[in-house]
Amino acid sequence: MEAPTVVPGAGEMSAVAARSREGSPEEDGFGPSALGTREHWDAVYERELHTFQEYGDAGEIWFGEESMSRLIRWMEKQKIPLDASILDIGTGNGVFLVELAKFGFSNITGIDYSPSAIQLSGSIIEREGLSNIKLKVEDFLNLSTKLSGFHICIDKGTFDAISLNPDNAVEKRKQYVKSLSRVLTVKGFFLITSCNWTKEELVNEFSEGFELCEELPTPRFSFGGRSGSSVAALVFQKT
Ligand SMILES: C[S@@+](CC[C@H](N)C(=O)[O-])C[C@H]1O[C@@H](n2cnc3c(N)ncnc32)[C@H](O)[C@@H]1O
Repeated sequence: MEAPTVVPGAGEMSAVAARSREGSPEEDGFGPSALGTREHWDAVYERELHTFQEYGDAGEIWFGEESMSRLIRWMEKQKIPLDASILDIGTGNGVFLVELAKFGFSNITGIDYSPSAIQLSGSIIEREGLSNIKLKVEDFLNLSTKLSGFHICIDKGTFDAISLNPDNAVEKRKQYVKSLSRVLTVKGFFLITSCNWTKEELVNEFSEGFELCEELPTPRFSFGGRSGSSVAALVFQKT
């Protein structure tokens, strides 16, 4: 029997989601969890910021290194121009922004609603000697400025977190789709990596205004005679 694949970073959130979903009073989604709150992420990134200042450790990369290479490989294959404007939604420690900049992308923005996450991203970017990355504290569900015109939007774990919000997650998911439509250009691409939603569920969530272009291969596990992926990585295009 093959051992199940462990997805770095995803374990905590998918375990909570799996538990919450089972017998959940919410018919259309997951039960509430602290992982869906800003307080949780503020506490996480305050801790990670402290660790970075103390030991220089950038902290957790959600879904692991491969989750970043997978997306960059896709962009390379699609010949996405290096000056395409890219938005990382819920950038966390901003490590993916660093990878994009190192690859050569020159028009990159990271947003997060946690000020500590943005402070941590800024510190990591500065340490890497990169200067042309834009960072902003922004709640994606309540965009305060005229953030728009992006060719590529990336989400690694943020839609998952939002789906666990204890306060009307169904409405928040709808608002997410509206915000995404607002910031992405027509024909722009949306790259989402999720451990809480299957491909079919994501296609349904983003059915209004987006169409599925590609499913990116993710590690498969097999356990007890059943096999599947614990992570979905999809590319949508705004219609
Ligand atoms: C699972 S972490 C993923 C972080 C990062 N994308 C990565 O791959 O390492 C989810 C991130 O989404 C951010 N987040 C959650 N809800 C948000 C919202 N409404 N607006 C902006 N950021 C949000 C959290 O602060 C956190 O940084």
